[in-house]
Amino acid sequence: MTLAQYKDAIEQSNIVSKTDINGIITFANDEFCKIFEYSREELIGKNHNIVRHPDVPKEIFKSLWDTILAKKTYKAMVKNLSKNGKTLYVNTTVIPILDKKGDIEEFIAIRYDVTESVELAREMQEKDRFLFQQSRLAAMGEMIGNIAHQWRQPLNELGITVYQMKKLFLSDKSQNDFLESYEHSKDVIKKMSSTIEDFRNFFSPNKEKERFSVQNAVDKLLRMMQGTIQQHSLHVEVKSKKNALVCGYFNEFNQVILNLINNSKDAFNQRKIKKREILIVIETDERQNMVVTYSDNAKGIDENIIDKVFDPYFTTKHSSEGTGLGLYMSEMIIKKSMGGSIKVYNNKNGATFEIKIPALKETII
Ligand SMILES: Nc1ncnc2c1ncn2[C@@H]1O[C@H](COP(=O)(O)OP(=O)(O)O)[C@@H](O)[C@H]1O
Ligand SMILES: [Mg+2]
Repeated sequence: MTLAQYKDAIEQSNIVSKTDINGIITFANDEFCKIFEYSREELIGKNHNIVRHPDVPKEIFKSLWDTILAKKTYKAMVKNLSKNGKTLYVNTTVIPILDKKGDIEEFIAIRYDVTESVELAREMQEKDRFLFQQSRLAAMGEMIGNIAHQWRQPLNELGITVYQMKKLFLSDKSQNDFLESYEHSKDVIKKMSSTIEDFRNFFSPNKEKERFSVQNAVDKLLRMMQGTIQQHSLHVEVKSKKNALVCGYFNEFNQVILNLINNSKDAFNQRKIKKREILIVIETDERQNMVVTYSDNAKGIDENIIDKVFDPYFTTKHSSEGTGLGLYMSEMIIKKSMGGSIKVYNNKNGATFEIKIPALKETII
């Protein structure tokens, strides 16, 4: 390749401009004019800061000038502005060209437009954030359902006890019975208050990653879901063969298990299954992962849709019942937040979800 051919190749695929030592534009290629929406006449003789974006802090330009005036090449991704106010992200390289004496003669800037990929990445992030919030709302809704169940029984009990206390008080006979009822009420209230505390913790924003035991997390969640579990006659068995600590957000992990149980519950109800069994096996594999195998006997997931259940918004439920975000979020939590994996397959009688999370080695017992 000749030098001219190189120049051609660069010019055709890049945005190229030259300035004098004061930053006054002396050359702009077609690509430059096209992307920044200026005619060549509008550019030549102007200061290069014509494409400067107001968002970019002064320090950036200072560092650019410091670098190139020190005869070094400057490289950065820069936010620029076109004539019509379009924001552009460009990978920029500014090279000082030296004369024979070694003094700076001019600067040549080669840019490459990466606006599309920057915007795509931003959209993805926003989409993730949005989905995350939505799924949190959905989990909250499901949890509020649990609180309602959890409180119904003690509230009834309190109602009855208070009524009895009134009778005891009016009959004016048994002071001891009255006091006993009073103590009992206090116990019930204490239990209710501890329930609400559990739920409050469930929704508190995650502060930092922590080490926790998968078994403890599962136990705690099952306690919180006791109301739902009873109401829907779910038989949940936990087999803990091996335990170890994992690293992540305790509440996020619980959100995963919560969704699994709610999904089973929905499938049981939809398919009117009488004997409702859920088995959760907790063990480790030879690669030092914690493995949680969650199975139900709710007749499984249709093979036509089983590949889609982790997609966002995929649901087979009515919009008042399902958002289709549960498993999507679960995968995000297990993969992104905990570095693990989650997969699904049908067993003989229902669905099985297998979650693997790297265990903290020294904690495997
Ligand atoms: N245990 C299960 N048994 C049968 N189908 C299930 C089970 N778990 C999930 N599914 C299917 O996967 C779909 C997606 O689940 P999920 O992401 O939690 O969203 P949602 O519960 O809001 O529908 C459900 O709508 C259902 O069709
Ligand atoms: Mg769900």
